[in-house]
Formats: sequence, C-alpha cells, structure tokens
Amino acid sequence: MKVSNEVRELLAARRPGHSLDAQFYASQEIFDLDMEAIFGRHWIYVGVEPDIPEPGDYFTVKLGRASVVVLRNDDMELRAFHNVCRHRGAQLCNAHKGSVGNLVCPYHQWTYDLSGKLIYAEHMGDDFDPSGRGLKRVHVESVAGLIFVCLAENPPEDFSGMRETMARYIGPHQLADCKIAVQDEIVEAGNWKLVMENNRECYHCVSNHPELTISLYEYGFGYQPSPSNIEQVQAFRDLTEREHARWEAAGLKSAEIDELDSCVTGFRAKRLPLDKAGESQTMDAKVACQKLLGNFAERNLGGLSFWTQPNSWHHFMSDHIVTFTVLPIGPEQTLVRTKWLVHKDAVEGRDYDPAKLTAVWRATNQQDRELVEMSQRGVADPAYEPGPYSPYTEELVEKFANWYVGRLKAAVE
Ligand code: FES
Ligand SMILES: [Fe+2]
Repeated sequence: MKVSNEVRELLAARRPGHSLDAQFYASQEIFDLDMEAIFGRHWIYVGVEPDIPEPGDYFTVKLGRASVVVLRNDDMELRAFHNVCRHRGAQLCNAHKGSVGNLVCPYHQWTYDLSGKLIYAEHMGDDFDPSGRGLKRVHVESVAGLIFVCLAENPPEDFSGMRETMARYIGPHQLADCKIAVQDEIVEAGNWKLVMENNRECYHCVSNHPELTISLYEYGFGYQPSPSNIEQVQAFRDLTEREHARWEAAGLKSAEIDELDSCVTGFRAKRLPLDKAGESQTMDAKVACQKLLGNFAERNLGGLSFWTQPNSWHHFMSDHIVTFTVLPIGPEQTLVRTKWLVHKDAVEGRDYDPAKLTAVWRATNQQDRELVEMSQRGVADPAYEPGPYSPYTEELVEKFANWYVGRLKAAVE
C-alpha cells in the first residue's frame, strides 16, 4: 500500500498511552488510508437482519468510495454486492433501503437476480455473453443477527471465532425476531476515530451524561481501581460477580471477553449490571417495552455490551436492543447510525412508547456529538499535542488506538 514518508514517520512515532497526532484526525491522506486499510480490509458492522426481513429487501452502505448493497435472496440468505452496474458502472441502488424482485439498473435496465447474475441486457447482440457480467460479490456474515461486510478479497479469518463466541452471548436476545422501532442518523463534525475513542471510555460519563448514568455504572467501561474510587470499583465488581452467577445459571453468557487489541477482528463483550431498577437503559432503569425479547421472563438481565473494532457498539437488554454503527464520511465528518429494536410482535402505543424507548440514547448521542465536535476543534488547533490516557479509566481507548495504529502499520509494511 502506497503511503508518504510523513505517514510512515507518524505511525512509527506513535507514543503508546497517548492520543494520536493531529494529522490522524484531519489529513485527507490518512483518511484515504483509513478507508483502504481499515474499512477496506476488516469486518465492518453495517446493519441488522431486521433491516431486510423479506426476500428482495435490501439496504446500501457507503464505505469510503465503495457502495455496497446488502440484500436477502429468495432462499432467505444474506448476500452483498458492490453497488455498481457491470454495464457502464452506474450506481445500481440509489436509495438507502428498499425492496425489489430483481436489481434493475435505472440507466439502461440491465437486470440482475438476487444472486447477482445478469439476467437481462437488451440490444447487446448475439455475441454478448452475460455470464461474466454478474455483480461483484462482497463478503457478508451475520453474528446472531448483526450484519458485517468485508470488502477484502481474503477477509480476516478470525471473524468466525468471534462470531461463534458472540452468537452464544447474543443468541438468547433473538435479534432476528426483532423489528427496528426507531432509527436515527447523526452526522458529526469530527473524525471517525474521535467518535470511537469517545465511545471507548466512560471517564466523561458522570459529568456529561445525566440520562445515561441513571442506569449505567461507568465502572463497567474499562475502569481499574484508582486511589479515589477503590471502594466503588470493588463494590461494582462484587455486584457484577453476584449477577453473573445468577445470569449464567439462567443460561446467559455474561463473563467479560476482551480481544480488542489481541485479534485482527478486535472485540469485547460483557454483561453489565444496571443501577436502580436494573432492567434497561431508560430514564427510570425499567423496561421500555413490556413485551420482552426472545423467551425472557425475567426483566433484570442487565445490559450485554458488545464492542467491535473498528466501528460499532451494541447494548442488549431484556426488552430492547440499541445498536450503533460509525461510518466515516470525510476526514472531519462521520455518520453515526443508531437503531432501537424491540420484539417484532411488540405493539407501539401498547407495549412501548418510542419517546421513552429512545430518551436516554437520543440525549446521550447529542451529548457525545458535542464532545466529539469540541475534540475535533481542539485537535485542529496548532497548540494540540497528544495527551496521556488515564491508566484507570481509558485503557479501552488505548486498545482502540493501539489496534488502529497496529493495523495501519501491518497494511503499509
Ligand atoms: S450503466 Fe447500468 S445498465 Fe447501463
Ligand atoms: Fe459518551
């Protein structure tokens, strides 16, 4: 992969335990490298199976300059293709979401079936062979209902291990039997890595997230006991141990797994106790949807949190799921897409109120957007220099930054 000496030097000079140099948050060259080496080569979380429940349902997603169409075929399997017509290259699906019998290019009506095969191309003559003109496939996989794609020809092989492990954690929440109750999109004026770094710590939670911290203990998010909070961290660890024993006995995987910086397909998961009523990430910590997910009868199942490198995080409760995908738009612009899912048979107005369902994370997303945008303004200031991460509260940020730098180094070597 071609990169300038300046970028090589920046990668070599990265100081562990410190935030990244300013260029990583603003340079077009590094953004292009991120799109090629990170978003072009790793497994990227793009949506959920309930986005495309029926044959012919599709959604599109933009990864750098590549557009991908993810669909469900007639055999109910997931398929993904480059969203580019094999005639003269027009973008095939121009909506974010839709439902089709076949994929018809709007330009000259070349038509592809849901397996990507070209089945109709008028006026191309007898010598035209459609067999080599099918849509280009993109790797697509589901992790218990969470859809990931990989643009690389040979995707990282460790994905299957993550999928099997996480299927055991997520499985009981039966994501495929959910519906999307609400979806939000926010375009943040910040580099995607500032969005991710902000997600990987809760150092900022108490002073910035009054709604989130009603139910959420910050100690579950990469905290180590420090002299100022040793008792609280210990009390949280004791509570976690008791709750894990209860949940594991009920067949719910709960123990922490942390492979954020030890795998190419980095991830972390843990079922975390919630405060107050302990049921859900809502304003009163009680369930927001009366119809529980899967076969759950118990409301107090805490929140199963799942984080992936490079671009997602998810919270699974007994009554609903919140899932977030981060999609870079430009060096200083990032799309954050949030989906709230409830049981597919839950009835709006009877079982759940969308305003209550979304209150905590809507507020939190706006607060996080402000934090990301103020960070972007600060790192663009000539006075900025990388600062130290807290060893007590920011170890997951370091794991993100270290994973990121390690993956870029591997790509440019
Ligand atoms: S570009 Fe698609 S049919 Fe011509
Ligand atoms: Fe936050």
